[in-house]
Amino acid sequence: MAQLWKGRFKKELAKETNDFNSSIRFDCRMFEEDIKGSIAHATMLGACGIIDKTESDKIISGLENILNDIKNGSLEIDMQAEDIHTFIEGELTERLGQTGKRLHTARSRNDQVALDIRLTLRKEIEEIKEKVKALISVICTKAEENKSTIMPGYTHLQRAQPITFAHHIMAYTAMLCRDLGRLDDAEKRMNICPLGSGALAGTTYPLNREMTAEQLGFDGITLNSLDGVSDRDFCIELAAALSLIMVHLSRFSEEIIMWCSWEFKFVELDDAFSTGSSIMPQKKNPDIAELVRGKSGRVFGDLTALLTVMKGIALAYNKDMQEDKEAIFDAVDTVKMCLTAFTPMIDTMTVLKDNMRNAAAKGFINATDCADYLVGKGLPFRDAYKATGELVALCIDKELTLETLPLEEYRNICGLFDENIYDAINLDTCVAGRTVVGGPSHESVEKQIEAAKQFIS
Ligand code: ARG
Repeated sequence: MAQLWKGRFKKELAKETNDFNSSIRFDCRMFEEDIKGSIAHATMLGACGIIDKTESDKIISGLENILNDIKNGSLEIDMQAEDIHTFIEGELTERLGQTGKRLHTARSRNDQVALDIRLTLRKEIEEIKEKVKALISVICTKAEENKSTIMPGYTHLQRAQPITFAHHIMAYTAMLCRDLGRLDDAEKRMNICPLGSGALAGTTYPLNREMTAEQLGFDGITLNSLDGVSDRDFCIELAAALSLIMVHLSRFSEEIIMWCSWEFKFVELDDAFSTGSSIMPQKKNPDIAELVRGKSGRVFGDLTALLTVMKGIALAYNKDMQEDKEAIFDAVDTVKMCLTAFTPMIDTMTVLKDNMRNAAAKGFINATDCADYLVGKGLPFRDAYKATGELVALCIDKELTLETLPLEEYRNICGLFDENIYDAINLDTCVAGRTVVGGPSHESVEKQIEAAKQFIS
């Protein structure tokens, strides 16, 4: 397919140049957005009398036919074309002759591509938001089933204080709700129409930029033509928001991987969402979680690539910017793929409640509660902390737990202990007492579940 810029050149383009320069293999996915942008542009050109109304009508129906033909498979996108914009305009001109050539009046591929990426990413963000919401909803269901599933909470990967599995996994919904907020933010700043910026300096035609923007569902128009064509902040912002989603999925994956190990055995993944080994018959591997953890690196790489492409280019459009699409599309596709596999994996995993409870019974995770008991009896916390530390040391010596240590031994260390210490350090009591907002008690977790559900409704 011929280039759009033939006039001043005397030689054919070298094949190597075309192969290197062409973006069609990754911008062809924007065909629908490109056509819809062109329809809006042609409509506005006709309405403003910049081209004849009958010609604009012909262009619009020509573009609609091209869109249908691509969608139903009767028109194949030519992978030899320089880019999707060239292909669509070329096809239109082939079908309409002279009229087709009027479409590009008052427009450049620079504002066209800036438009197409925005429209494409806007749609992708909606899909990603739905997938994040589906994950939040699955986590909420798992949490509802595990409000009484006691497990050890950790700091430094050392057993620290008693929590529930529901409380633990609801932490991820807090992260994912922030992710949704960031996607909304990115979408808001992205939703501004650059058409009318021309190549860089706007245009002398009396355009109605608001009209095009409105037709395409934008909230407004860009206010500087140089920025309009050379801004890719919206790609970077989205890549940053996607990177954080991957950080969260990766942390969750790491926990799933640990929890699946024989050392923990807190969860069992469904056979449909795990894999085996070709040599070790006993193996059941959490490949999905590992891949999600690994793929986070790709998305961070895409963000770094975008930042690096943009940081050194003078205004306005430079061809470096063609690198934007592969990076941001890869980030989008990777996140979508990860969420698609991750959510049903969480949904179908079995929570091994007894193993969590057994792990919680070891590791003195009720030591803080024991100290708090003494505080309740009037002892300053620092003294209570010290007495409890001595009790823990004694238990380690005698291979006992705080639950099995006789009252007599408690009393030897501090006379304030009574029979009711055993109630106070019971793990269910310890969790039930943490009614603070954000805590692990039933009521607190129910509020967290409620809030997350509200957020995604
Ligand atoms: N394929 C180009 C890109 O993705 C489209 C814009 C081309 N503009 C130009 N002046 N060569 O950035």
